[in-house]
Amino acid sequence: MAIGLMSYAQLSKPVYLDESKDLEERIEDALRRMTLAEKIGVIHAQSKFSSAGVKRLGFPDFWTDDGPHGVRPDVLWDQWEQAGQTNDSCVAFPALTCLAATWQPAFSWLYGHALGEEALYRGKSMILGPGINIYRTPLGGRNFEYMGEDPYLTSRMVVPYIQGLQKIGVSSCVKHYCLNNDEEYRHQVNVKISDRALREIYLPGFEAAIKEGKAWGIMGAYNLYNNEHNCHNSITLNRILKQEWGFDGVVVSDWGGAHDLDQSVKNGLDMEFGTWTNGLSEGASNAYDMYFLSKPYQKAILDGRYTEKELDDKVRRVLRTFFRTTMNKKKPYGFLCNEEHYATARLIAQEGIVLLQNEHNVLPIDPVGKKILVVGENAIKMMTVGGGSSSLKAQHEISPLQGLQNRLKDSNCQIEFARGYVGDVSGNYNGVTTGQNLKDERSAEMLIAEAVEKAKTVDYVIIFGGLNKSDYQDCEGHDRKSMELPYAQDDLITALAAVNKNTVYVNISGNAVCMPWKKQVSAIVQGWFLGSEAGTALAAVLVGDSNPSGKLPFTWYENLKQVGAHSFGEEAFPGIWRDGKKEIIDEEYKEGIYVGYRWTDKKKLRPTFAFGHGLSYTTFKISNLRAENTETSDGNMTFSVDVTNTGNKQGSETVQLYITDVKCSVDRPVKELKAFQKIMLKPGETKTVTLKTDKRALSFWDEETNDWKAEPGDFIALAGDAADNLSCKLKFKLTE
Ligand code: BGC
Repeated sequence: MAIGLMSYAQLSKPVYLDESKDLEERIEDALRRMTLAEKIGVIHAQSKFSSAGVKRLGFPDFWTDDGPHGVRPDVLWDQWEQAGQTNDSCVAFPALTCLAATWQPAFSWLYGHALGEEALYRGKSMILGPGINIYRTPLGGRNFEYMGEDPYLTSRMVVPYIQGLQKIGVSSCVKHYCLNNDEEYRHQVNVKISDRALREIYLPGFEAAIKEGKAWGIMGAYNLYNNEHNCHNSITLNRILKQEWGFDGVVVSDWGGAHDLDQSVKNGLDMEFGTWTNGLSEGASNAYDMYFLSKPYQKAILDGRYTEKELDDKVRRVLRTFFRTTMNKKKPYGFLCNEEHYATARLIAQEGIVLLQNEHNVLPIDPVGKKILVVGENAIKMMTVGGGSSSLKAQHEISPLQGLQNRLKDSNCQIEFARGYVGDVSGNYNGVTTGQNLKDERSAEMLIAEAVEKAKTVDYVIIFGGLNKSDYQDCEGHDRKSMELPYAQDDLITALAAVNKNTVYVNISGNAVCMPWKKQVSAIVQGWFLGSEAGTALAAVLVGDSNPSGKLPFTWYENLKQVGAHSFGEEAFPGIWRDGKKEIIDEEYKEGIYVGYRWTDKKKLRPTFAFGHGLSYTTFKISNLRAENTETSDGNMTFSVDVTNTGNKQGSETVQLYITDVKCSVDRPVKELKAFQKIMLKPGETKTVTLKTDKRALSFWDEETNDWKAEPGDFIALAGDAADNLSCKLKFKLTE
């Protein structure tokens, strides 16, 4: 009888496969059934982008992929060459700088969701993104993959991206945790930073991603902090991420970011990827067994150097991730390159484009019966290829020139093109080629002369310039060498502006560039890296089908002298090699919490364009800032402000609320962004916007108590449409 019952029990579903059971119970059940080798098998890579499941128990392999702007095409199992699939072209979504510039959290959700559907189609269970490192200097090679300089904006924009993605069973892997703010020497930089700057500037985005977004994965960064690499860092991973924030997902190493067995075991790393690669191209073949968290760890356990305590913690986290993704029976089917994804890409691109300057309303262009000269390599160059690991194989990419030609084909206007400058003509990244032949042997002088001749007789000149995704520009692995525009573009723009008063400059980049000719050109548009629908979105904005509403997610400095990180010599950027050896480079963030507008405010500097700046084809009035109560004991405040569309076009405005601490025992920024909301208004319409803030919005990180602290006293709320245009003020008090 007893034997009969047992065999019946054995036939019924084991707990770990029983979806009616509690997740933690299923994890414990699966863990109990796993051998040491099986446990070791799930905590490190088995190919460039996958790790093994547990075949015997029915856990499939786990596939990750970049991230963050689209699903990267497949490479071979153990090589970086393209696998040559015919179903891995994707929709390239706008770069995350553009997403941040929409100031529209709902679009982050759409972005994550659409990307997740593409990932599901491609069989990927984890997207290596979003990237949210803070924009510390405009030289940062990977700023284009991140969400700008402000911890609050980043926090608000990262959470819905994660939620949209994970809702359909695809894990995020928020990166690069943390302090990976420049690319040069990224494996060797040891960041020295005050606790305040760490907590107030560099961590809030990650904290929100974990606590509010409930991210299932996070990627340790390449660099060191407190002399430990961030892929196995006792402070950032064990203490802050896991103990303090209660993170229950997996810490994934950046590719090749693990360096030490003991630290990998003890300091919070859960899944090791890419060891012995430089993260991009080099790699020891089939070395997966030699990863720290593979055979060496297994041997160390068998030799008695470690118990299975740390191992079990890692495996529990991996199993939790499996149940959330590969083993999630409720996840939907994926879709690749469907019209909805293109519509999402287009919408975000349009809403993120920033109208920086528009003298005598030269934009939107009035094309009928006109001649338009389009100038510049960036008008024709495919930008989805290049830039490092975020490079994509886009199913299509509409260039700015094509976008204008498509939009204006029936408008009785003439569009001409002049190359203007030659930048990078290579068009190849990691085996994906653009198929474009951009070679042009003419000298800079000849190219400028040709463009100038043509510019003399046209109604509009639209220059598409800026940076590209080549090394030392907006690209992983190196930082930019200067803030100036490359390829003699300053000469080109100045020459064109001198012969045509309707000169419009569209800057394609993820970073600010110097604009010494700013006053000479009529309009300036920030066009980011917009992905598949770049040209369509830019044309919609330039001709006025879409009223621009993007706002800068970073300060557009005039030059490096205005940047905090560049104001303290080499020690603060790029750092000083320790002991004269080229092993560790110490980089001390001497500007502390004064990053971006916090620095320009403190030093009373006027940047070219302020954080939060962005114009529209209509005008708005922001007025009547008020609060439910002007005293608060718990720190919660509810503000209201009226916004009126005072122009004659429908458009969207983003109301920004900053807070000033009038008097404090520690030095605080002049003001800090603490709430915002974007709303659409018809001409003449007024809407009231409600903005809520909490105690954290009044707090600083107190290094004495290691906690957030809001000191009772007076605060000022400032509301307006940019960090340098806050016309509404309201005093309120935090009481004891
Ligand atoms: C990058 C990561 C990326 C990984 C895998 C690394 O070089 O830093 O952002 O996810 O490669 O491609």
